[in-house]
Amino acid sequence: MSQTPVVTVDPVHPDPALLAPAAELLRGGGLVVFPTETVYGLGANALDQRACHGIYEAKGRPSDNPLIVHLPDTERLPELCRTVPPEAVALFRAFAPGPLTLVLPKSGIVPDLVSGGLDTVAVRIPSHPVAQALLRACGVPVAAPSANRSGRPSPTSLQHVLEDLDGRVDLFVDGGPCGVGLESTVLSLAGETPLLLRPGGVSLEQLRELLGEVRVDPAVLAQASAKTPPQAPGMKYRHYAPKAPLIALDGDHRSVLQYMRERQARGRVGILCYEGEEPLFRQAAALAALGPLGDHEVNARRLFDALRSFDAVQLDRIYAPLPDAAGLGLALRNRLLKAAGHHVIEVE
Ligand code: TXA
Ligand code: MG
Repeated sequence: MSQTPVVTVDPVHPDPALLAPAAELLRGGGLVVFPTETVYGLGANALDQRACHGIYEAKGRPSDNPLIVHLPDTERLPELCRTVPPEAVALFRAFAPGPLTLVLPKSGIVPDLVSGGLDTVAVRIPSHPVAQALLRACGVPVAAPSANRSGRPSPTSLQHVLEDLDGRVDLFVDGGPCGVGLESTVLSLAGETPLLLRPGGVSLEQLRELLGEVRVDPAVLAQASAKTPPQAPGMKYRHYAPKAPLIALDGDHRSVLQYMRERQARGRVGILCYEGEEPLFRQAAALAALGPLGDHEVNARRLFDALRSFDAVQLDRIYAPLPDAAGLGLALRNRLLKAAGHHVIEVE
């Protein structure tokens, strides 16, 4: 039995009567975990500073790391933003509702705690039917980071949420597993040129097709340093990390497989691999497969569950091959690099 009450809803046609208490809690300043198409979110009324403070407490999150504000559609965008640039309108027309977050100049009604003291606000319109129904029912903008304890992989099922937040929030809404499995793409429109801060379900290629030039924050693929601090404060923390150290392996996939085979029995080793490769790693202490090699959509959906599965056993280290950076591969690569704390070995 969990300490926090759970309400289970149909992920495609959620019953409004079942969601009513969740909506009421959000309006009244409570904390509610709910599913989105990317990962589960930990929601609070974004205009209620005290409620948002509760988010930071429940997650153990540093307060300089701003929150994403969730809306059901673009109607209230002008309330939250000082200006809504034409690029934002075009992007939301193309990709909303969906896994895209835009960083825009914020208006005075957004509490400083939500924006982490920045003069911008991140806004997203999730497509998950449960998130949509809840946002419409509660009638307030909802600040929602991923519903994990700070530093842990984001939750893609209620089981993950229970591991991290049971007893720390008011209500869990269970809508089954998340479809995308990685957090939304975060794109800043606050500067001269659109800047990709976090790759996700909407790819860099899709953004460039619509916008032309899009710059990529160096922190997406390289370790941020004092010289190049990341523009998204959240990207500077070690993140998505299993308990054992994770080592990312870059290079030709056959060479990477050979490298992992040779080392699987040197201590208690965890191996992240792809479908069909399991028989190569019979001596590994833990094994997780991400589905077919190159099927980035399936790989994304399984990644965080695979990373969490390594915590079930005591391990000395985990090896994980890095995927190529095309399409959703860029987001997979980014999350694995963060999980590795940028410990990468180039395999010849
Ligand atoms: O898919 C998602 O985006 C999920 C679901 C629940 O919607 N939410 C999520 O939130 O991943 P969170 O808080 O875990 O990640 C938000 C990221 C952080 O890296 C944060 O630093 C960045 O977005 N961010 C938020 N507001 C920002 C702002 N004003 N300027 C720059 N970066 C911002
Ligand atoms: Mg997060």
